[in-house]
Amino acid sequence: SAIKVAVLVGSLRKDSFNRKLAKAVERLASPEWLFEHVRIDNLPLYNQDFDSEYPPVCQQLKTQIKAADALLFVTPEYNRSIPGVLKNAIDIASRPYGTNAFANKPGAVIGISVGATGTALAQQHLRNVLAYLDVPLMGQPEVFLKFSDGLIDDEGNIGVESTKKFLQGFVDRYGEWVRRHVHA
Ligand code: FNR
Repeated sequence: SAIKVAVLVGSLRKDSFNRKLAKAVERLASPEWLFEHVRIDNLPLYNQDFDSEYPPVCQQLKTQIKAADALLFVTPEYNRSIPGVLKNAIDIASRPYGTNAFANKPGAVIGISVGATGTALAQQHLRNVLAYLDVPLMGQPEVFLKFSDGLIDDEGNIGVESTKKFLQGFVDRYGEWVRRHVHA
């Protein structure tokens, strides 16, 4: 049966390398998998006053995430952590207390940057957050990519064979990880 994946890209940039990476992963996955990009650019800054009457757009975010079987986080590294926009979306979807939309949804974290560390530190920060939010996160393989011209085009085609093979390995393992948890 179809597996629905909620994709959260941590960059709002039009030509985001991370969005291209998300597309590349989607292309490598089995066609019966549905990848739904979750909008995070339309959210207000989280305010705990929301909790008594949650804004509709925040409620919609939670509904979309709750409807998914699995999570895929594709994030840049900003100053050795995750971008504020992504943390904001996570905070919104995790609240009010006791209604965390991410709970028990299998997930993975990947990313691409222009720096040699390939988002490794941002991913570690994100893993810390998602562990608290009860997301069973795949440990391996880790995906730390450094962008170079021609690596991934706008449609998600991968221009380097070794990277394509590596990402195919990730996608296959991710598929197993998700199925194991969805059918548990
Ligand atoms: C960056 N960038 C960056 N890169 C990195 O490898 N480590 C880092 O800590 C940072 N820090 C950082 C902070 C801020 C505010 C910006 C705007 C950028 C560079 C980053 O890798 C590059 O801008 C990517 O292109 C961002 O990803 P998207 O938007 O292309 O997906």
